[in-house]
Amino acid sequence: MSAPGRFITFEGIDGSGKSTQARRLAEALRAEGRQVVLTREPGGSLGAEEIRRLVLEGDPDRWSAETEILLFTAARRDHLERTITPALAAGKIVICDRFADSTRMYQGLSRGDLRALVDQLHALMIGREPDLTLLIDLDPDTGLARAKGRQGHEERFEDFGPELQRRMRAGFLALAEEFAPRFRVIDGARDEAEVARDVLARVREALA
Ligand code: ADP
Ligand code: TYD
Repeated sequence: MSAPGRFITFEGIDGSGKSTQARRLAEALRAEGRQVVLTREPGGSLGAEEIRRLVLEGDPDRWSAETEILLFTAARRDHLERTITPALAAGKIVICDRFADSTRMYQGLSRGDLRALVDQLHALMIGREPDLTLLIDLDPDTGLARAKGRQGHEERFEDFGPELQRRMRAGFLALAEEFAPRFRVIDGARDEAEVARDVLARVREALA
């Protein structure tokens, strides 16, 4: 029988360095000989990547917050069924760039208080939390400047602007207190290598 896998997620505002750190962590763990699946949300499976295009491209008013909750949860369900659960069952370490905490924040906070609805649908259709969540905490002005440096068409949420990003940052920190046992808050305002060392140290503690 294989060892149980571990499910690690990265969370934080846009441009905080999640993707960079998720990739570096995957490389560091693979170098130690561990089997790692690096994935992301929305996306991470064929169907979920299709839903990704629906939710991240186009007019910011394209979907209501409620419809978005359904779309992100549908994408997550597919991702869980086809990618995450099989990898964990095979004893792998799954590193995921964003997961349900992002829905709690973005859809739960951005247009009124819909957190209860997010949690209800999560309990009904997902019912799984990560074993460890690394919150990369960063000042939103720095995060937005970094995110704007990237090119692409996935701008529906980045267009929401700095005020929403500030509320998201505070919301993520509150979430880290709410789910304290699985959260580690990482200071993202340092150079990449320093943040990566901190991340790896926290993950080693958790895997020990
Ligand atoms: P996220 O996935 O949280 O949106 P990314 O990892 O894509 O963030 O990083 C956003 C941008 O900032 C990228 O261009 C990346 O190269 C850069 N970046 C990431 N980490 C740092 C860091 N610690 N210092 C400066 N720039 C960074
Ligand atoms: P991502 O590609 O991680 O963006 P970034 O690299 O800029 O952080 O995620 C795309 C956007 O999707 C991001 O603005 C947050 C949003 N999002 C939600 O609104 N709800 C969700 O459940 C998830 C997973 C992401």
